[in-house]
Amino acid sequence: MLPVIAIIAPGAMGSAVAKRLTTAGLTVLTNLDGRSPASRSRAHDAGMQDVPFSDIPLKANWVLSILPPSDAPAFAQKLYDAYTQSTVQRPLAFADCNAVSPETVKGIAQTFSGTNIKFIDAGIVGGPPKGDYDPVFYASASPEDASLLDEFVGLSKYGLKVSALRGEGAGIGDASALKMSYAGISKGFTGLCATMILAAHASSPATSQALLHELASSQPFVLQRIAGSIPTMLPKAYRWVGEMEEISQFVGSGEGQIHAGLARLYERVEKSLNAGEGDEAGEDVRVLKKFVEDAKKTIEKKQ
Ligand SMILES: NC(=O)c1ccc[n+]([C@@H]2O[C@H](COP(=O)([O-])OP(=O)(O)OC[C@H]3O[C@@H](n4cnc5c(N)ncnc54)[C@H](OP(=O)(O)O)[C@@H]3O)[C@@H](O)[C@H]2O)c1
Repeated sequence: MLPVIAIIAPGAMGSAVAKRLTTAGLTVLTNLDGRSPASRSRAHDAGMQDVPFSDIPLKANWVLSILPPSDAPAFAQKLYDAYTQSTVQRPLAFADCNAVSPETVKGIAQTFSGTNIKFIDAGIVGGPPKGDYDPVFYASASPEDASLLDEFVGLSKYGLKVSALRGEGAGIGDASALKMSYAGISKGFTGLCATMILAAHASSPATSQALLHELASSQPFVLQRIAGSIPTMLPKAYRWVGEMEEISQFVGSGEGQIHAGLARLYERVEKSLNAGEGDEAGEDVRVLKKFVEDAKKTIEKKQ
């Protein structure tokens, strides 16, 4: 029997994962109550079936939680409520695939204790699956759920790329810790670059131009990276606020302040993106876009 998968929600990642699974012949359920037209359209294109929320614990074998990290604990609670209120309580597996800290994911796992819902901690590294490209679902579980972890790895045959974290001491929290560490470097670096570009520009536009030329001369790979990563970061800044906060919690007091500061940066970018015409807050995004344009021209000239 093929497993039935529920994916909440059909965002950029959830819908692309769903498309992989439906292409492999699986039924993928979701619930579109309250979702935007963009999410509805992605769900439709991915072949996901919209069902009442209360049907999810009755019909799915797996629930993959793929939504903004700050909504992950509330979603787990909502699923728990639907599960415990349903007349039949079938065995169900829940994989939290969000960028949340080990502490948060342990709390989410705790939501299901005493029920027939088994838990996988998963962290997705990479962008949404597309063509020949697949992100990696790193996954860990409690030692007593080793066979559930095998089943999650078994979803590989339906198009997901799953890598289990096993071995001494591995358990719930480790897949999330890996995701936090990776994102803390990759998204942290993008945030650090944006912070310094904005600070240089605040000193004077001439300073940010001088920064650009110094990077082109002494750190060309960093300029290349800025040109590629800042434009793709802008639409995701809203989601990265919560992710930086989770990373900050993971690192702990002291050095954790680094990513707490980057959360403020992404908040600032998000505010700037949403600024209306004539609103001064819009200036930050204009500065970042201009820096990227100039960086691309400088890189092209040097080639
Ligand atoms: N995109 C990536 O490259 C990437 C890479 C690695 C990991 N991830 C992880 O994947 C997760 C989702 O990212 P994404 O890129 O798919 O985000 P996204 O494109 O912004 O989509 C978020 C989805 O969640 C829905 N949503 C928002 N609040 C919700 C709630 N309270 N309950 C149910 N659904 C809700 C949104 O619906 P509306 O449209 O109606 O708001 C949308 O469908 C995150 O945890 C992220 O860390 C993403």
